[in-house]
Amino acid sequence: MSAPRGEFSSKLGFLMAAAGSAVGLGNIWGFPTQVAGNGGAAFLVVYLLMAFFLAYPALMAELIIGRHTKTNSVKALQAIASSNISKKVGFATGFVGMLTACAILSFYAILAGWMAAHATSSATGLVGMSASSEWFASQSSARSLVFTVIFMSLTIAIICGGVKQGIEKWCSRLMPALIMILIALIVYVLTLEGATDGVRAYLVPDFSRVTDPNLIVGAMGQAFFSLSLGVGTMLIYGSYISERDDLVSLGRSVTLIDIGIAVVAGLLVIPAMYAAQHNGVQIYDADGYLIESAGLIFTVLPALFDTMGGGGMFVSLVFFIFMSVAALTSTISVLEVPVAYAVESHDMPRTRATILIGGAITLASAIIIFNFDTLFGIVITVTTQYSEPLVGLMMCVYAGWVLQRNSLLQELKKSNENAEHGLFWKIWPGYVRVICPAAILIVFLQKFFS
Ligand code: PHE
Repeated sequence: MSAPRGEFSSKLGFLMAAAGSAVGLGNIWGFPTQVAGNGGAAFLVVYLLMAFFLAYPALMAELIIGRHTKTNSVKALQAIASSNISKKVGFATGFVGMLTACAILSFYAILAGWMAAHATSSATGLVGMSASSEWFASQSSARSLVFTVIFMSLTIAIICGGVKQGIEKWCSRLMPALIMILIALIVYVLTLEGATDGVRAYLVPDFSRVTDPNLIVGAMGQAFFSLSLGVGTMLIYGSYISERDDLVSLGRSVTLIDIGIAVVAGLLVIPAMYAAQHNGVQIYDADGYLIESAGLIFTVLPALFDTMGGGGMFVSLVFFIFMSVAALTSTISVLEVPVAYAVESHDMPRTRATILIGGAITLASAIIIFNFDTLFGIVITVTTQYSEPLVGLMMCVYAGWVLQRNSLLQELKKSNENAEHGLFWKIWPGYVRVICPAAILIVFLQKFFS
Protein backbone atom coordinates (compact mmCIF):
# COMPACT_ATOMS: atom_id res chain seq x y z
CA MET A 1 0.00 0.00 0.00
CA SER A 2 1.29 3.46 -0.79
CA ALA A 3 1.38 6.19 1.86
CA PRO A 4 -1.71 8.44 2.21
CA ARG A 5 -1.70 11.51 -0.07
CA GLY A 6 -0.44 14.82 1.23
CA GLU A 7 -2.73 17.86 1.48
CA PHE A 8 -2.13 21.54 2.13
CA SER A 9 -3.37 22.41 5.60
CA SER A 10 -5.01 25.70 4.59
CA LYS A 11 -5.76 28.05 1.73
CA LEU A 12 -2.83 30.16 2.81
CA GLY A 13 -0.56 27.13 2.72
CA PHE A 14 -1.55 26.41 -0.86
CA LEU A 15 -1.24 30.07 -1.83
CA MET A 16 2.27 30.34 -0.44
CA ALA A 17 3.32 27.13 -2.19
CA ALA A 18 1.71 27.89 -5.54
CA ALA A 19 2.79 31.52 -5.54
CA GLY A 20 6.22 30.30 -4.47
CA SER A 21 6.32 28.02 -7.47
CA ALA A 22 5.09 30.66 -9.86
CA VAL A 23 7.26 33.49 -8.58
CA GLY A 24 10.82 32.69 -9.50
CA LEU A 25 13.68 33.61 -11.76
CA GLY A 26 11.14 33.76 -14.58
CA ASN A 27 9.47 36.76 -12.95
CA ILE A 28 12.41 38.55 -11.49
CA TRP A 29 15.00 37.95 -14.14
CA GLY A 30 13.35 36.53 -17.28
CA PHE A 31 10.46 38.95 -17.44
CA PRO A 32 12.32 42.24 -16.90
CA THR A 33 15.10 41.27 -19.30
CA GLN A 34 12.59 40.28 -21.98
CA VAL A 35 10.85 43.60 -21.44
CA ALA A 36 14.11 45.47 -21.75
CA GLY A 37 15.13 43.59 -24.89
CA ASN A 38 11.73 43.65 -26.62
CA GLY A 39 10.54 47.20 -26.90
CA GLY A 40 9.91 47.94 -23.22
CA ALA A 41 6.25 48.23 -22.38
CA ALA A 42 5.23 46.64 -25.72
CA PHE A 43 6.29 43.31 -24.29
CA LEU A 44 4.54 44.12 -21.03
CA VAL A 45 1.24 44.68 -22.84
CA VAL A 46 1.41 41.45 -24.86
CA TYR A 47 2.55 39.54 -21.80
CA LEU A 48 -0.40 40.77 -19.75
CA LEU A 49 -2.81 39.69 -22.50
CA MET A 50 -1.20 36.26 -22.71
CA ALA A 51 -1.14 35.82 -18.96
CA PHE A 52 -4.78 36.76 -18.34
CA PHE A 53 -6.37 35.29 -21.44
CA LEU A 54 -4.34 32.12 -22.03
CA ALA A 55 -2.25 31.22 -19.02
CA TYR A 56 -4.88 31.87 -16.35
CA PRO A 57 -7.55 29.63 -17.96
CA ALA A 58 -4.89 26.96 -18.49
CA LEU A 59 -3.89 27.24 -14.82
CA MET A 60 -7.51 26.65 -13.85
CA ALA A 61 -7.59 23.58 -16.09
CA GLU A 62 -4.59 22.13 -14.22
CA LEU A 63 -5.92 22.96 -10.77
CA ILE A 64 -9.37 21.51 -11.48
CA ILE A 65 -8.05 18.32 -13.11
CA GLY A 66 -5.59 17.94 -10.22
CA ARG A 67 -8.14 18.21 -7.47
CA HIS A 68 -10.71 16.18 -9.32
CA THR A 69 -8.40 13.22 -9.92
CA LYS A 70 -6.30 13.56 -6.76
CA THR A 71 -3.43 11.88 -8.45
CA ASN A 72 -0.06 12.80 -9.87
CA SER A 73 0.28 14.72 -13.10
CA VAL A 74 1.36 11.73 -15.19
CA LYS A 75 -1.73 9.72 -14.39
CA ALA A 76 -4.30 12.49 -14.08
CA LEU A 77 -5.26 12.92 -17.75
CA GLN A 78 -5.43 9.18 -18.19
CA ALA A 79 -7.69 8.99 -15.14
CA ILE A 80 -10.34 11.29 -16.61
CA ALA A 81 -10.33 9.64 -20.03
CA SER A 82 -12.76 6.89 -20.94
CA SER A 83 -11.68 5.62 -24.34
CA ASN A 84 -8.54 3.63 -24.90
CA ILE A 85 -6.97 6.17 -27.18
CA SER A 86 -7.66 9.16 -24.97
CA LYS A 87 -6.20 7.25 -22.04
CA LYS A 88 -3.01 6.62 -24.01
CA VAL A 89 -2.73 10.19 -25.23
CA GLY A 90 -3.45 11.42 -21.69
CA PHE A 91 -0.68 9.31 -20.24
CA ALA A 92 1.75 10.39 -22.97
CA THR A 93 0.93 14.05 -22.34
CA GLY A 94 1.46 13.67 -18.61
CA PHE A 95 4.71 11.87 -19.23
CA VAL A 96 6.01 14.55 -21.60
CA GLY A 97 5.02 17.14 -18.98
CA MET A 98 7.05 15.27 -16.37
CA LEU A 99 10.08 15.02 -18.66
CA THR A 100 9.73 18.73 -19.35
CA ALA A 101 9.71 19.33 -15.58
CA CYS A 102 12.96 17.37 -15.21
CA ALA A 103 14.57 19.23 -18.12
CA ILE A 104 13.47 22.58 -16.69
CA LEU A 105 14.90 21.71 -13.30
CA SER A 106 18.20 20.71 -14.89
CA PHE A 107 18.80 24.20 -16.28
CA TYR A 108 16.97 26.10 -13.56
CA ALA A 109 19.18 24.57 -10.87
CA ILE A 110 22.25 25.93 -12.68
CA LEU A 111 20.80 29.44 -12.77
CA ALA A 112 19.71 29.15 -9.16
CA GLY A 113 23.22 28.00 -8.26
CA TRP A 114 24.64 31.15 -9.87
CA MET A 115 22.40 33.26 -7.67
CA ALA A 116 23.55 31.41 -4.56
CA ALA A 117 27.17 31.74 -5.71
CA HIS A 118 26.82 35.51 -6.03
CA ALA A 119 25.16 35.71 -2.61
CA THR A 120 28.12 33.78 -1.18
CA SER A 121 30.51 36.06 -3.02
CA SER A 122 28.94 39.12 -1.38
CA ALA A 123 28.92 37.46 2.04
CA THR A 124 32.60 36.49 1.84
CA GLY A 125 33.39 39.95 0.45
CA LEU A 126 31.72 41.57 3.43
CA VAL A 127 33.94 39.71 5.87
CA GLY A 128 37.05 40.62 3.91
CA MET A 129 37.76 37.28 2.19
CA SER A 130 38.35 38.91 -1.16
CA ALA A 131 40.05 35.99 -2.95
CA SER A 132 37.15 33.64 -2.22
CA SER A 133 34.69 36.38 -3.00
CA GLU A 134 36.23 36.76 -6.45
CA TRP A 135 36.10 33.03 -7.14
CA PHE A 136 32.43 32.83 -6.17
CA ALA A 137 31.61 35.66 -8.56
CA SER A 138 33.71 34.38 -11.47
CA GLN A 139 32.03 32.25 -14.11
CA SER A 140 33.53 28.74 -14.16
CA SER A 141 32.23 25.20 -14.64
CA ALA A 142 33.63 24.18 -11.27
CA ARG A 143 31.77 26.94 -9.48
CA SER A 144 28.55 26.20 -11.39
CA LEU A 145 28.81 22.54 -10.48
CA VAL A 146 29.45 23.16 -6.78
CA PHE A 147 26.49 25.51 -6.42
CA THR A 148 24.13 23.43 -8.54
CA VAL A 149 24.87 20.49 -6.23
CA ILE A 150 24.28 22.68 -3.15
CA PHE A 151 21.03 24.03 -4.57
CA MET A 152 19.73 20.63 -5.59
CA SER A 153 20.61 19.25 -2.15
CA LEU A 154 18.49 21.95 -0.50
CA THR A 155 15.64 21.22 -2.89
CA ILE A 156 15.90 17.48 -2.21
CA ALA A 157 15.97 18.03 1.56
CA ILE A 158 12.74 20.06 1.45
CA ILE A 159 10.90 17.67 -0.89
CA CYS A 160 11.84 14.71 1.32
CA GLY A 161 9.67 16.40 3.98
CA GLY A 162 6.51 16.01 1.88
CA VAL A 163 3.62 18.41 1.31
CA LYS A 164 2.98 19.91 4.77
CA GLN A 165 6.35 19.55 6.45
CA GLY A 166 8.38 20.30 3.35
CA ILE A 167 6.69 22.38 0.65
CA GLU A 168 4.11 24.25 2.73
CA LYS A 169 6.32 24.90 5.73
CA TRP A 170 9.21 26.30 3.71
CA CYS A 171 7.16 28.32 1.26
CA SER A 172 5.23 29.92 4.12
CA ARG A 173 8.52 31.04 5.62
CA LEU A 174 10.27 32.06 2.44
CA MET A 175 7.51 33.87 0.51
CA PRO A 176 6.82 36.66 3.05
CA ALA A 177 10.57 37.21 3.35
CA LEU A 178 10.79 37.42 -0.42
CA ILE A 179 8.11 40.08 -0.70
CA MET A 180 9.64 42.17 2.05
CA ILE A 181 13.08 42.09 0.45
CA LEU A 182 11.57 42.97 -2.94
CA ILE A 183 9.83 46.05 -1.57
CA ALA A 184 12.93 47.19 0.32
CA LEU A 185 15.07 46.81 -2.80
CA ILE A 186 12.63 48.75 -5.01
CA VAL A 187 12.35 51.60 -2.55
CA TYR A 188 16.14 51.77 -2.46
CA VAL A 189 16.69 51.55 -6.23
CA LEU A 190 14.11 54.23 -6.99
CA THR A 191 16.12 56.70 -4.91
CA LEU A 192 19.16 56.22 -7.18
CA GLU A 193 19.95 58.76 -9.83
CA GLY A 194 18.95 57.69 -13.35
CA ALA A 195 16.33 55.26 -12.07
CA THR A 196 13.39 57.33 -13.32
CA ASP A 197 14.63 56.95 -16.93
CA GLY A 198 14.25 53.21 -16.35
CA VAL A 199 10.72 53.60 -15.06
CA ARG A 200 9.88 55.55 -18.21
CA ALA A 201 11.41 52.95 -20.55
CA TYR A 202 9.49 50.28 -18.69
CA LEU A 203 6.12 51.93 -18.86
CA VAL A 204 6.07 53.68 -22.25
CA PRO A 205 5.42 51.13 -25.03
CA ASP A 206 6.96 51.05 -28.50
CA PHE A 207 3.82 49.81 -30.23
CA SER A 208 5.57 49.05 -33.51
CA ARG A 209 6.89 45.92 -31.78
CA VAL A 210 3.54 44.56 -30.60
CA THR A 211 2.94 42.49 -33.76
CA ASP A 212 6.43 40.97 -33.89
CA PRO A 213 5.83 37.15 -34.06
CA ASN A 214 8.88 36.42 -31.93
CA LEU A 215 7.69 38.82 -29.31
CA ILE A 216 4.27 37.16 -29.22
CA VAL A 217 5.63 33.61 -28.91
CA GLY A 218 8.16 34.86 -26.36
CA ALA A 219 5.42 36.49 -24.30
CA MET A 220 3.29 33.35 -24.41
CA GLY A 221 6.20 31.14 -23.35
CA GLN A 222 7.03 33.60 -20.61
CA ALA A 223 3.44 33.60 -19.33
CA PHE A 224 3.29 29.78 -19.22
CA PHE A 225 6.71 29.49 -17.64
CA SER A 226 5.93 32.15 -15.10
CA LEU A 227 2.72 30.45 -13.98
CA SER A 228 4.56 27.09 -13.84
CA LEU A 229 2.21 25.58 -16.44
CA GLY A 230 2.54 22.69 -18.85
CA VAL A 231 4.76 20.55 -16.64
CA GLY A 232 2.26 19.24 -14.11
CA THR A 233 3.39 21.38 -11.18
CA MET A 234 0.11 23.22 -10.80
CA LEU A 235 -1.84 20.04 -11.43
CA ILE A 236 -0.06 18.26 -8.61
CA TYR A 237 -0.40 21.25 -6.28
CA GLY A 238 -4.09 21.35 -7.24
CA SER A 239 -4.39 17.72 -6.22
CA TYR A 240 -3.20 18.67 -2.71
CA ILE A 241 -5.90 21.37 -2.25
CA SER A 242 -8.53 20.41 0.28
CA GLU A 243 -12.12 20.09 -0.95
CA ARG A 244 -13.15 22.90 1.40
CA ASP A 245 -11.12 25.47 -0.49
CA ASP A 246 -12.49 27.41 -3.42
CA LEU A 247 -10.48 26.64 -6.54
CA VAL A 248 -11.66 29.65 -8.51
CA SER A 249 -10.59 32.22 -5.97
CA LEU A 250 -7.32 30.39 -5.28
CA GLY A 251 -6.43 30.25 -8.98
CA ARG A 252 -7.24 33.93 -9.36
CA SER A 253 -5.05 34.86 -6.39
CA VAL A 254 -2.08 32.84 -7.65
CA THR A 255 -2.35 34.50 -11.07
CA LEU A 256 -2.58 37.98 -9.61
CA ILE A 257 0.34 37.43 -7.24
CA ASP A 258 2.49 36.00 -10.02
CA ILE A 259 1.75 38.69 -12.58
CA GLY A 260 1.90 41.37 -9.90
CA ILE A 261 5.35 40.29 -8.77
CA ALA A 262 6.65 40.09 -12.35
CA VAL A 263 5.42 43.63 -13.05
CA VAL A 264 6.79 44.92 -9.76
CA ALA A 265 10.12 43.13 -10.31
CA GLY A 266 10.38 45.08 -13.55
CA LEU A 267 10.30 48.20 -11.40
CA LEU A 268 13.36 46.89 -9.61
CA VAL A 269 15.50 45.52 -12.41
CA ILE A 270 14.92 48.05 -15.20
CA PRO A 271 15.41 51.19 -13.12
CA ALA A 272 18.49 49.48 -11.62
CA MET A 273 19.90 49.04 -15.13
CA TYR A 274 19.38 52.69 -15.92
CA ALA A 275 20.88 53.72 -12.59
CA ALA A 276 23.88 51.58 -13.54
CA GLN A 277 24.09 53.34 -16.90
CA HIS A 278 23.95 56.66 -15.12
CA ASN A 279 26.96 55.54 -13.08
CA GLY A 280 28.92 54.77 -16.22
CA VAL A 281 28.16 51.03 -16.51
CA GLN A 282 27.48 49.90 -20.07
CA ILE A 283 24.05 48.33 -20.57
CA TYR A 284 23.79 48.31 -24.37
CA ASP A 285 26.35 46.61 -26.58
CA ALA A 286 28.09 48.15 -29.59
CA ASP A 287 25.11 47.40 -31.86
CA GLY A 288 22.70 49.10 -29.55
CA TYR A 289 21.23 45.88 -28.17
CA LEU A 290 20.72 45.32 -24.52
CA ILE A 291 23.53 43.25 -23.00
CA GLU A 292 22.37 39.64 -23.05
CA SER A 293 20.37 38.55 -20.09
CA ALA A 294 23.00 36.68 -18.07
CA GLY A 295 25.30 39.67 -18.48
CA LEU A 296 22.58 41.90 -17.20
CA ILE A 297 22.17 40.27 -13.83
CA PHE A 298 25.73 39.14 -13.32
CA THR A 299 27.69 42.08 -14.73
CA VAL A 300 25.43 45.12 -14.90
CA LEU A 301 23.88 44.79 -11.45
CA PRO A 302 27.13 43.84 -9.65
CA ALA A 303 28.78 46.78 -11.43
CA LEU A 304 26.01 48.99 -10.05
CA PHE A 305 26.55 47.59 -6.56
CA ASP A 306 30.29 48.33 -6.92
CA THR A 307 29.59 51.98 -7.64
CA MET A 308 27.74 52.29 -4.34
CA GLY A 309 30.78 52.12 -2.11
CA GLY A 310 30.77 50.21 1.18
CA GLY A 311 27.04 49.58 1.32
CA GLY A 312 27.01 48.10 -2.19
CA MET A 313 28.25 44.71 -1.04
CA PHE A 314 25.43 44.52 1.47
CA VAL A 315 22.77 45.47 -1.11
CA SER A 316 24.26 42.86 -3.42
CA LEU A 317 24.02 40.23 -0.68
CA VAL A 318 20.37 41.05 -0.05
CA PHE A 319 19.60 41.03 -3.78
CA PHE A 320 21.16 37.63 -4.46
CA ILE A 321 19.63 36.07 -1.35
CA PHE A 322 16.32 37.33 -2.68
CA MET A 323 16.96 35.68 -6.05
CA SER A 324 18.01 32.43 -4.41
CA VAL A 325 14.88 32.28 -2.26
CA ALA A 326 12.66 32.94 -5.28
CA ALA A 327 14.42 30.13 -7.12
CA LEU A 328 14.19 27.66 -4.24
CA THR A 329 10.41 27.87 -3.86
CA SER A 330 10.23 27.13 -7.60
CA THR A 331 12.73 24.26 -7.77
CA ILE A 332 10.93 22.36 -5.03
CA SER A 333 7.67 22.56 -6.96
CA VAL A 334 9.32 21.16 -10.08
CA LEU A 335 10.95 18.27 -8.25
CA GLU A 336 7.60 17.35 -6.71
CA VAL A 337 6.29 16.38 -10.19
CA PRO A 338 8.48 13.32 -10.84
CA VAL A 339 8.68 12.46 -7.14
CA ALA A 340 4.89 12.32 -6.77
CA TYR A 341 4.75 10.04 -9.81
CA ALA A 342 7.41 7.67 -8.46
CA VAL A 343 5.81 7.56 -5.01
CA GLU A 344 2.21 7.08 -6.16
CA SER A 345 2.57 5.07 -9.30
CA HIS A 346 5.65 3.04 -8.50
CA ASP A 347 5.25 2.68 -4.75
CA MET A 348 8.68 4.08 -3.99
CA PRO A 349 9.34 5.46 -0.51
CA ARG A 350 9.37 9.26 -0.72
CA THR A 351 12.90 9.79 0.55
CA ARG A 352 14.40 7.25 -1.81
CA ALA A 353 12.45 8.59 -4.79
CA THR A 354 13.48 12.17 -4.02
CA ILE A 355 17.16 11.35 -3.68
CA LEU A 356 17.27 9.17 -6.79
CA ILE A 357 15.38 11.56 -9.05
CA GLY A 358 17.04 14.65 -7.59
CA GLY A 359 20.41 12.97 -8.10
CA ALA A 360 19.63 12.08 -11.71
CA ILE A 361 18.56 15.66 -12.45
CA THR A 362 21.74 16.99 -10.83
CA LEU A 363 23.68 14.72 -13.18
CA ALA A 364 21.77 16.17 -16.13
CA SER A 365 22.68 19.66 -14.89
CA ALA A 366 26.34 18.60 -14.77
CA ILE A 367 26.13 17.44 -18.39
CA ILE A 368 24.68 20.82 -19.36
CA ILE A 369 27.38 22.66 -17.40
CA PHE A 370 30.15 20.83 -19.24
CA ASN A 371 28.50 21.29 -22.65
CA PHE A 372 27.16 24.68 -21.88
CA ASP A 373 27.32 26.38 -25.28
CA THR A 374 25.59 23.54 -27.08
CA LEU A 375 22.97 22.53 -24.54
CA PHE A 376 21.93 25.37 -22.28
CA GLY A 377 20.06 27.59 -24.76
CA ILE A 378 18.44 24.66 -26.57
CA VAL A 379 17.04 23.10 -23.40
CA ILE A 380 15.55 26.44 -22.36
CA THR A 381 13.97 27.14 -25.75
CA VAL A 382 12.54 23.67 -26.28
CA THR A 383 11.05 23.39 -22.81
CA THR A 384 9.73 26.88 -22.24
CA GLN A 385 8.67 28.01 -25.70
CA TYR A 386 7.37 24.73 -27.12
CA SER A 387 6.82 21.98 -24.58
CA GLU A 388 5.10 24.02 -21.90
CA PRO A 389 2.51 25.75 -24.11
CA LEU A 390 1.80 22.49 -25.99
CA VAL A 391 1.31 20.42 -22.85
CA GLY A 392 -0.76 23.36 -21.51
CA LEU A 393 -2.87 23.16 -24.66
CA MET A 394 -3.50 19.47 -24.04
CA MET A 395 -4.52 20.21 -20.44
CA CYS A 396 -7.12 22.64 -21.80
CA VAL A 397 -8.33 20.04 -24.31
CA TYR A 398 -8.71 17.43 -21.57
CA ALA A 399 -10.44 19.86 -19.21
CA GLY A 400 -12.72 21.08 -21.99
CA TRP A 401 -13.49 17.94 -23.99
CA VAL A 402 -12.65 14.88 -21.92
CA LEU A 403 -13.68 15.82 -18.40
CA GLN A 404 -17.50 15.77 -18.31
CA ARG A 405 -19.11 19.17 -17.87
CA ASN A 406 -21.01 17.77 -14.96
CA SER A 407 -17.85 16.52 -13.22
CA LEU A 408 -16.30 19.95 -13.68
CA LEU A 409 -19.26 21.61 -12.04
CA GLN A 410 -19.37 19.09 -9.20
CA GLU A 411 -15.69 19.77 -8.56
CA LEU A 412 -16.30 23.50 -8.30
CA LYS A 413 -19.40 22.98 -6.18
CA LYS A 414 -17.50 21.07 -3.52
CA SER A 415 -16.22 24.36 -2.18
CA ASN A 416 -18.82 26.75 -3.56
CA GLU A 417 -22.48 25.78 -3.60
CA ASN A 418 -23.32 28.58 -6.03
CA ALA A 419 -20.55 27.86 -8.50
CA GLU A 420 -22.92 27.46 -11.43
CA HIS A 421 -24.24 31.00 -11.05
CA GLY A 422 -20.81 32.59 -10.98
CA LEU A 423 -19.12 34.38 -13.86
CA PHE A 424 -16.37 31.78 -13.97
CA TRP A 425 -18.76 28.96 -14.81
CA LYS A 426 -20.49 31.06 -17.46
CA ILE A 427 -17.29 31.77 -19.35
CA TRP A 428 -14.53 29.32 -18.56
CA PRO A 429 -15.83 25.90 -19.73
CA GLY A 430 -16.46 27.06 -23.29
CA TYR A 431 -13.41 29.22 -23.30
CA VAL A 432 -11.03 26.47 -22.26
CA ARG A 433 -12.67 24.10 -24.74
CA VAL A 434 -12.34 26.20 -27.86
CA ILE A 435 -10.69 29.55 -27.51
CA CYS A 436 -7.66 28.62 -25.42
CA PRO A 437 -6.45 25.69 -27.55
CA ALA A 438 -7.17 27.60 -30.76
CA ALA A 439 -5.33 30.69 -29.56
CA ILE A 440 -2.27 28.72 -28.47
CA LEU A 441 -2.18 27.03 -31.89
CA ILE A 442 -2.55 30.33 -33.70
CA VAL A 443 0.37 31.80 -31.78
CA PHE A 444 2.54 28.91 -32.98
CA LEU A 445 1.28 28.98 -36.55
CA GLN A 446 1.86 32.69 -36.94
CA LYS A 447 5.44 32.14 -35.86
CA PHE A 448 6.06 29.33 -38.33
CA PHE A 449 4.41 31.09 -41.25
CA SER A 450 5.89 34.52 -40.64
N1 PHE B 1 7.41 29.73 -12.55
C1 PHE B 1 8.78 29.63 -12.26
C2 PHE B 1 9.44 30.98 -12.52
O1 PHE B 1 8.83 31.90 -12.92
C3 PHE B 1 9.47 28.54 -13.03
C4 PHE B 1 8.77 27.23 -13.06
C5 PHE B 1 8.40 26.66 -14.28
C6 PHE B 1 8.47 26.57 -11.89
C7 PHE B 1 7.73 25.48 -14.34
C8 PHE B 1 7.78 25.36 -11.94
C9 PHE B 1 7.42 24.81 -13.15
O2 PHE B 1 10.60 31.12 -12.35
